Amino acid sequence: MGAGANVGVDTGAGAGADAGVGAGAGDEPLRPHAEVAFADELKALAAADDRPRPVRWRLSPWAVATYLLGGVLPDGTVITPKYVGPRRIVEVAVTTLATDRALLLLGVPGTAKTWVSEHLAAAVSGDSTLLVQGTAGTPEEAIRYGWNYAQLLAHGPSRDALVPSPVMRAMAGGLTARVEELTRIPADVQDTLITVLSEKTLPIPELGHEVQAVGGFNLIATANDRDRGVNELSSALRRRFNTVVLPLPATPEAEVDIVARRVDQIGRSLALPAVPEGVDEIRRVVTVFRELRDGLTADGRTKLKSPSGTLSTAEAISVVTGGLALAAHFGDGTLRAGGVAAGTLRAGDVAAGILGAVVRDPAADRVVWQEYLETVVREREGWKDFYRACREVSV
Ligand SMILES: Nc1ncnc2c1ncn2[C@@H]1O[C@H](COP(=O)(O)OP(=O)(O)OP(=O)(O)O)[C@@H](O)[C@H]1O
Ligand SMILES: [Mg+2]
Repeated sequence: MGAGANVGVDTGAGAGADAGVGAGAGDEPLRPHAEVAFADELKALAAADDRPRPVRWRLSPWAVATYLLGGVLPDGTVITPKYVGPRRIVEVAVTTLATDRALLLLGVPGTAKTWVSEHLAAAVSGDSTLLVQGTAGTPEEAIRYGWNYAQLLAHGPSRDALVPSPVMRAMAGGLTARVEELTRIPADVQDTLITVLSEKTLPIPELGHEVQAVGGFNLIATANDRDRGVNELSSALRRRFNTVVLPLPATPEAEVDIVARRVDQIGRSLALPAVPEGVDEIRRVVTVFRELRDGLTADGRTKLKSPSGTLSTAEAISVVTGGLALAAHFGDGTLRAGGVAAGTLRAGDVAAGILGAVVRDPAADRVVWQEYLETVVREREGWKDFYRACREVSV
């Protein structure tokens, strides 16, 4: 196979130091970090931004908000909206990062908490990778520091043997640290953050030393509403955070807009066909999800039972993306090869995805779905094709 750049799988024999990490076409990361994916927008914003910037911020708070919400710069550069929602929420979130309080993004699953946190870190610090993923097994070392054991055993505790956590690196560099799913972390480990957030220092007793945060340091945590009660935030820790609740999209139009935008972005990276504008299927997926989530039909007339799944905007995005892939590979959509091809998306392409999202619990959810299908979908004007497609996959 020789020295071809695009060696996907190398059996490992011989080859250079970065075997399998070539840089040929198709070797781009599947999902580049926000600061890489939107480098052009960030650069244009920095150039146009003449407002005061807090210490070590790449942009002013105004420019960070514009990066998230979208806009047009004086030179005509278009900044795409990353977050679709109330402007005030974004302004409060950005402003919080410029104060001595940390930011807690709270909300039900799929309300873009992780997404917003990544983009905020990218815009403020130019680095969204200083990330601690919270789980029930997250140890204190993940928030403070760990040791390189070979070094530690050979030379004893020293700066060289110390492995700083993302939080420690953010403190030392004046950058934004991120903690995902904070409430999944055991309470005693969570409390490690109290000193970090109130004293802005991280002691290293083994070295008789400490790392003090420099200007620009702050922290964004995300937590899921549904996880409440798993590990409540202690009130001592909660006081160190400004909480911003990310809401579900207020109107069906807003939700359709979010889904269409994200499907287009994701589709582009997967080389799927572009969705024609105003496509019915997106509206239908969003309508079904919203009605089942709310337990009420859109006209407010019929009460419905809600299934056990969350049916979030994020799941609507997956269903439509899945449908688009199905249409492209097995339907009459054409793959976007080089040029842009408009795809078709039919009821049959999204029906299976919807079923999978709604019926999580095979017994109870199936009853909810059947009832919805027969009482609502069947009777609805213009939904005959959708009803048939759903019936087909439901048996
Ligand atoms: N209001 C919104 N504006 C833009 N994108 C949104 C919005 N709501 C959801 N999304 C999209 O939904 C997807 C999932 O969002 P994300 O993973 O950030 O959710 P989350 O709140 O972190 O969920 P979880 O609680 O499950 O971790 C992202 O691709 C994001 O673009
Ligand atoms: Mg998340």
